[in-house]
Amino acid sequence: MRFASDNWAGVPDEISAAIARAGTGFAPAYGNDPLTARVTERFCEVFERKVEVLFTATGTASNSLALAAIGRPGGQILCSTEAHIENDEWGATEFQSGGVKLATVANAAGKIRPDGLAAALARYPEGNRHGPLLGLSLTNATECGTVYAPAEIAALTAPLKARGLPVHCDGARFANAVAATGASPAELTWKSGVDFMSFGGTKNGCWAAEAIVIFTPGVLHDVAARRQRAGHTFSKSRFVAAQFEAYLENGNWLHWARHANLMSDRLRAGLRASNSVRLAWESSANEVFPIISRAALANIRAAGGFCHEWPADALHPDARPDPDETLVRLVTSWATSDADVEEFLALV
Ligand SMILES: Cc1ncc(COP(=O)(O)O)c(C=O)c1O
Repeated sequence: MRFASDNWAGVPDEISAAIARAGTGFAPAYGNDPLTARVTERFCEVFERKVEVLFTATGTASNSLALAAIGRPGGQILCSTEAHIENDEWGATEFQSGGVKLATVANAAGKIRPDGLAAALARYPEGNRHGPLLGLSLTNATECGTVYAPAEIAALTAPLKARGLPVHCDGARFANAVAATGASPAELTWKSGVDFMSFGGTKNGCWAAEAIVIFTPGVLHDVAARRQRAGHTFSKSRFVAAQFEAYLENGNWLHWARHANLMSDRLRAGLRASNSVRLAWESSANEVFPIISRAALANIRAAGGFCHEWPADALHPDARPDPDETLVRLVTSWATSDADVEEFLALV
């Protein structure tokens, strides 16, 4: 019943075995090893085009270093009000970029609303007095467990493209978005106007493997130098590469993400069927947001279960929890079992 986060889960054997295999012998350091080169080729196959791949240790590093590389003095990057870069990264993008500002855009359950984006673009026309607009960051799967389909991404990226501005995707849970939409990695990114992304492996089964993936050549300025100065250039790059090789091999990443999403589907179905619980919003990836009684939460915790309480201020006032209720976030992973789901539902 550990639904606190997908990064509470351990690591599948395939990943551990790959690290152990990479641990013998010698190999050139700092990304000049054959395994890193092979994995870069794998990324090109997965995305059906030539891509540049820079490993980092964390999703926060990928987001902030990549976004800093589109920075200009006084600039603004648009993102959803729910974005991890806005709420949870302690100003990492602002810090790495030397002061770029994040400007938030209205969203519906984590997904940027086209009318919110239009309003933001109107607020920052070219030559405005607030500073240059630098681009847009969207998250897929979103922080609310919802997903964007390719057409929805294309509708958001089009007005940015019309102004010659780049688009970033925070893909900490990209595997869950691919699994939930059934769209291809290419359709969810560059084919829909995404120029660069943060590709996450850690939440879906890796020990610690994250990467900046660049689709549009030249879109990021000095990103390798920024990574070096931030201390995210791995000397033993082959160990990150080993994780990604096993992750992408035989569709493992999608197999694990489908399992995580399926466990969330079961939670959603069980919670919908209960008359003592309601879902705060519908989601389709591996995060579920029910409003449950505080008594149920106490039962869950007493039984050794974990889940985080979640802010409810994004909800319409009529939809917010009553005083004896609370909104919680449940996150499933490759390691969630049917028994975890059943036990949770029984306690609720
Ligand atoms: C949507 C999203 N982006 C980025 C991150 C950052 O990942 P990390 O904790 O590895 O910095 C997280 C982690 O929770 C996340 O949920």
